[in-house]
Amino acid sequence: MTPPNPLSEGLRLRRRPDPCTLVIFGASGDLTMRKLFPALYSMAYRHLLPEQFAVVGVARTPQTTAQFAAAMKQAVKKYARDPFRQDVWDSLAKGLRYIGTEFDSATGEDGVAAMLDECDAKDGTLGNRVFYLAVPPQAFETVVNEIGARRERKGWTRVIVEKPFGHDAASARELTAILKEWYSEDEVFRIDHYLGKETVQNMLALRFANGIFEPIWNRQFVDHVQITVAETMGVEGRAGFYEQAGAIRDIFQNHLLQLLALTAMEPPIDFTADSVRNEKVKVLRSLHTPGPKSVIRGQYGAGFVEGEEVVAYREEPGVAHDSMTETYVAAKLFVDNWRWADTPFYVRMGKRFARRETTIAIQFKSAPHPPFAEIAGDGLRPNVLLIHVQPDEGVSLAVGAKVPGQGMTIRTVHMDFLYGGAFRTGLPEAYERLILDAMLGDATLFTREDEVDEQWKLVDAMVAGWQRDRPSFPNYEAGTWGPKSAEDLLHGDGRSWRRH
Ligand code: BG6
Repeated sequence: MTPPNPLSEGLRLRRRPDPCTLVIFGASGDLTMRKLFPALYSMAYRHLLPEQFAVVGVARTPQTTAQFAAAMKQAVKKYARDPFRQDVWDSLAKGLRYIGTEFDSATGEDGVAAMLDECDAKDGTLGNRVFYLAVPPQAFETVVNEIGARRERKGWTRVIVEKPFGHDAASARELTAILKEWYSEDEVFRIDHYLGKETVQNMLALRFANGIFEPIWNRQFVDHVQITVAETMGVEGRAGFYEQAGAIRDIFQNHLLQLLALTAMEPPIDFTADSVRNEKVKVLRSLHTPGPKSVIRGQYGAGFVEGEEVVAYREEPGVAHDSMTETYVAAKLFVDNWRWADTPFYVRMGKRFARRETTIAIQFKSAPHPPFAEIAGDGLRPNVLLIHVQPDEGVSLAVGAKVPGQGMTIRTVHMDFLYGGAFRTGLPEAYERLILDAMLGDATLFTREDEVDEQWKLVDAMVAGWQRDRPSFPNYEAGTWGPKSAEDLLHGDGRSWRRH
């Protein structure tokens, strides 16, 4: 028998949320099936949900509660990280309801309201509500006004908003204004699911629970930072959305900038939602790119990804044959403050890379005087602290070590911490953590209004610079690491992207 793992201690300390009903708008969509229900199931599996709990699915698809429940059960079997157990499913399904309606229908609204009353009466949910808005942008205003106007003063209300949150700073501000008519900022939970990833939260642990990193986490010791969010996937049937968004709105504006903010932020005075977000927003506010030449756009052509032949972006179903949408962005950014002035943050992200990987690499400056230079060949490299966000979650530190034998030959070796090895437990999915936090009213891992605003301001400035030139797309082959111009961006600074 495997002995209990002492490092898992503390996992039991999580609070249980109050009784509540989770209302999912857009419940017949992909997100509900692939992420939300599998997450709810895993939460039920670990007894993290309140005893008195109900889920109401609302969507346009006409179907009965029984049909919806059957579809969600299949989804759980297919996508949940935990093995299927009928008793766990039953505990979740007992409070499940579905209503098929147009979002702007008064009858539909009455139906939802009646169901919520029924949840309170039968499932004991005490008027507490979590509204999850997984609806297309055009339905957002209708749904928020509907639930806002019918707000009851029975229990607490929280509103989780899926991305995309607007398509530029102006539209995001409009969305916030609509939300503010009914809700205060601490009732609004804007999702950036990267913040729910264990490894992303571990960035905070690594930096602020260890004394050794903070003194060297600055421009004096760090040469530069590289952040990569590489996906092997293409657009996977989401061309309608992606054609409008591109990599800059899909990944850069949210996930990537959040990774950067956590990497660069100052230590917060405590771990309350506002302290952490106050520090992040300062980083976002001080970000700039030196100019259009420091931002590279790419679009993939045909190629091979993980041994399979794939078509060019322009050949994907639903994509225009002359589409100028970028599937790749690389950029050089600077954080204009005392800690980071003149230290480049190179970032790259997009679809159809050679391999799926999200990493943050802190590349330190080389040793000031290399006594072993003549014998080290190209083996003597600067230290790199590499945070593997996914897959193979963990942290690794590259250090120079002596090769055994006569003489003094130095090679880079890695000191590795792997989650799987140290904690012997699977990692929770980001949505498990985020749904639970929203139920508990903890907004630390959600993006605040001013963060979103700063993120969009940077994106708007970058996109404005794109009007002036028209790159010839496609400019990188699927299954590679992006266009040559992205290599040149670093070569121009005497650096290169991390080797893979
Ligand atoms: C989503 C993007 O926010 O993140 C997708 O819209 C992307 O295009 C996904 O594939 C990546 O998430 P993960 O958790 O698989 O890295």
